[in-house]
Amino acid sequence: MKILALCGSLRAGSLNRSALRSAAELCDPDWEFTLEPALSRLPYFDADLEQHDLPEVVAGLRQRLGAADALLIATPEYAHGTSGVLKNALEWLVGGGEMAGKPVALMSASPAATGGSRAQAWVAETLTVMDARVLPDGLLIPQATRKITDGRITDPDTLEGLRGLLTRLAESVYVPA
Ligand SMILES: Cc1cc2nc3c(=O)[nH]c(=O)nc-3n(C[C@H](O)[C@H](O)[C@H](O)COP(=O)(O)O)c2cc1C
Repeated sequence: MKILALCGSLRAGSLNRSALRSAAELCDPDWEFTLEPALSRLPYFDADLEQHDLPEVVAGLRQRLGAADALLIATPEYAHGTSGVLKNALEWLVGGGEMAGKPVALMSASPAATGGSRAQAWVAETLTVMDARVLPDGLLIPQATRKITDGRITDPDTLEGLRGLLTRLAESVYVPA
């Protein structure tokens, strides 16, 4: 199974990136886990560019999404929404059509008690419009600075929740709803 992971934060010490690092380590050895490398290099979405001169970096992102069996997205929450980085990437992905039918698992880590629930709901709504198959009940990681240390999830319950999310993602690939 090929999983493509998108991280909505560019920060080196990102809690969400750390959670994705732990996800990569929890994957079965025969799964292929790729952290999407291009999000920081995407230009702002521009429908003229898309129509007349699709940037190579966008074509690469679309190609990797098309080749993936499933998507894992970690979103930070900024002002009750997702990040501009992730929103921009999703805008580029609307036109490609690769998202249709794709199983997607969502997670969000925040120092706040809500764990990024509003950003996650926002991303779920957008992905649903794009015809992705969004798993119900993504993983929320509230008070994440206490549960993520040195770039990895260290809280056992959170690790268990993440393991469950990955299992459900794999099931949704092999047994489509
Ligand atoms: C501009 C800004 C707005 C933020 N707004 C929220 C918010 O609405 N809700 C929330 O839970 N955290 C909010 N935070 C805190 C972020 O969740 C926190 O910085 C988190 O660590 C970002 O994710 P990252 O660690 O993956 O970069 C905000 C942070 C910044 C810098």
